[in-house]
Amino acid sequence: MCGIVGAVAQRDVVDILIEGLKRLEYRGYDSAGVAVVDSQNKLHRVRRLGKVQELSDAVQNEPCPGGTGIAHTRWATHGAPSEANAHPHLSSDNIVVVHNGIIENHEELRGKLKTLGYVFTSQTDTEVIAHLVHHEFKSCDTLLSAVQLATKQLDGAYGTVIMDANDKDKFIVARSGSPLVIGYGLGEHFIASDILALLPVTRRFAYLEEGDVAEITRQSVSIFDENGNAVEREIKESDATHDAGDKGEYRHYMLKEIYEQPIAIRNSLAGRIIDDSIDSDVFGNNAEEIFKSIEHVQIIACGTSYHSGMVARYWLEEFAGISCNIEIASEYRYRKIFVPKNGLIVTISQSGETADTLAALRKAKDLGFKASLTICNVPGSSLVRESDLCFMTKAGAEIGVASTKAFTTQLVGLMMLTIALGKFNDVNQEKLKEHTQALLTLPNKIDEVLAIAPRIEALAEDFSDKNHSLFLGRGRQYPIAMEGALKLKEISYIHAEAYAAGELKHGPLALIDDDMPVIVVAPNNELIEKLKSNVEEVRARGGLMFVFADVDSNFVSDETMKVIDIPHCEIGIAPMIYTIPLQLLSYYVAIIKGTDVDQPRNLAKSVTVE
Ligand code: G6P
Repeated sequence: MCGIVGAVAQRDVVDILIEGLKRLEYRGYDSAGVAVVDSQNKLHRVRRLGKVQELSDAVQNEPCPGGTGIAHTRWATHGAPSEANAHPHLSSDNIVVVHNGIIENHEELRGKLKTLGYVFTSQTDTEVIAHLVHHEFKSCDTLLSAVQLATKQLDGAYGTVIMDANDKDKFIVARSGSPLVIGYGLGEHFIASDILALLPVTRRFAYLEEGDVAEITRQSVSIFDENGNAVEREIKESDATHDAGDKGEYRHYMLKEIYEQPIAIRNSLAGRIIDDSIDSDVFGNNAEEIFKSIEHVQIIACGTSYHSGMVARYWLEEFAGISCNIEIASEYRYRKIFVPKNGLIVTISQSGETADTLAALRKAKDLGFKASLTICNVPGSSLVRESDLCFMTKAGAEIGVASTKAFTTQLVGLMMLTIALGKFNDVNQEKLKEHTQALLTLPNKIDEVLAIAPRIEALAEDFSDKNHSLFLGRGRQYPIAMEGALKLKEISYIHAEAYAAGELKHGPLALIDDDMPVIVVAPNNELIEKLKSNVEEVRARGGLMFVFADVDSNFVSDETMKVIDIPHCEIGIAPMIYTIPLQLLSYYVAIIKGTDVDQPRNLAKSVTVE
C-alpha cells in the first residue's frame, strides 16, 4: 500500500525515482508525486492525480534536476485521491515527507500543530509528520534528532522518508509497521518500500527493522534502533533479476503470471523432494524437532493467501492427521483466542508484509504458540524475519494485483508442510508418497490445462453482460471456488459468490435464474456424486452452468450446461489444477469488459495498513 522510492546520488535521480514508482505501482495507483533538491538547494516538486504515467509525463514539462529526491505512489486512506493529497507533503517549503501507513493519532497531532500556527493544505494523516518534524527541528541540531523526536509521538504505522531542502545530499528514513529497504550503490544510496523498485540500480539491500531510524547520505548509512543506539543491519545480495518486474511479450502482468505457474512451481519444488520424501529442513534447521511435537496447526492469512490456507486445513486433517484451524488475520488479531497445546502458528503471505497477518503472528507468539512458520514469497520480509521457520515460495515477483502464481506456489508449500508433518503421525505413509510424487507432475499438468485457454476465452463471452455469478465446490475444492469468485470480482467487477455446494439449498438456490451463471469445480473425487446432485438442483431451477470437470466424471454438455474437460489428476494436486481455468476465465471476462486487469479499481497488492 503506497510505494516509496528515494535516492541520494551525484547524478540526477528523477528518472530513477519515476522508474522505481512504475515498479511499485502495484502498491497503489491513485496519485503520485516526486520531490528533488538540486545543487542550489532548490526544491522541485511535481504531483499528479492518476497513475505514475501522468507524473512521468508532467516531469517532462517540469524538469526536476538534482541528486537527492523522494517519490511516492499513493493508495488513499485519509483524504480522497487528489493532487493536494498526493505526496510528497511539505512543511514551510523545506521539510518534505513521503509516507506509507496510517498515523492513528493524526487528529490530535493536527489540533496541536494548528495551535502552533501550522497551516494544513491536505486532508492526509501524512502532513502531520511534515509539520511535526519541522516543529521539532526548531529545537534540534540535526534532522535526524528531529525525526527521532517526532516519530516517538506517532501512533500507528509508518514507513517514511524525510528531506530538508536546505540540506541537500541527505534524507532520514524511519520504519514502524511499514517496510523499507535500503539499497547500496557505489557512492549513492537508495530507499524503497520493496527491492523491486531498486533492481535497475543495485542488488545490495538491507531491511530496516521495526523502530529503526536511519540517516542516509551519498557516502554513508547510519542506522539507529528504537532506543537510539547505533546498529548494523545485514546487507544481502539479492538474486532477483533486473527484469523481474517486466511484462515481457504479455499484454498484462496477470496473464504473464498465470503462464509462469509451471516454472514457479518447478522452482518451488527444486531440490526439496529427494527419494519421494520431503526433508523437514526445507522449513528451517530445527524444523524436525518442532514438527515432532506439533499437535495443532493454526493458519492465519488474508485474501487469496487465506484461500490457500483453507485448502491446507483439509489436507492437514485428512492427509497428515493433525487438527487445524484457519482464520482471517484481521479477525484473529482482535478476538480472545484459545491457545492450543503444542500449537504451530502458520502465516501465509505473498508479500510477507500484510499488516493484519503480521499483527496476528505477533499476537500468537505473545500468547505462547510453540512455534511459528510462514509460507512466503518475499525473502527478508517481516513475516520471514519474525517467524521461527519458513517455506519460501519461489514464484518470483508477482505484480498483478490479483494473485495467481503466488497462490499455486503457496499450495505447493502447504502440501509439502502436510507431508512433512504427516511423517510424524499415524497416517498412511504410502499416500503421503503418492502426494509427493504427484507434486512433481504438477508443472506438466498445469501446462496441459493452460493449453485449453482458447476454450475458456470463448466461454468468457457468456459472462460479459452478467452482473452476478455463483461458484460452487465441495471439500478441498470449496476454497478453490472461493478463489475463483474472488478473482472474478477483483478484476471484472462482476459480483461473484462462492458456496460449498451442499449449502445451496440453505439460501443461494433462491438466486438461481438464467441471468446468474453458476460455475462448478468438479474433479473426480469421493464427493463427485454428491456434487452431481447439487448440479441437478441448479439445473431443475433453470440455472445456466459452467462445469470444470475431470474428463472421467461423465458430465455431458447440453443447452443448460457447458462442460469444460480438465485433465485427470491425483486428488492432492487437484486444487492447484482447477485454479488455473478459473484464473483464465476471470482474465478473459475482464478483457471483454475492458477493466484495468493489473490495477483494478480501489485495490492494492501489498496491504500494509489495517
Ligand atoms: C491484497 C492483494 C491480494 C492478497 C492479499 C493478501 O488484498 O490484493 O492479492 O491475497 O492482499 O496479501 P499477502 O501478501 O499477505 O498474500
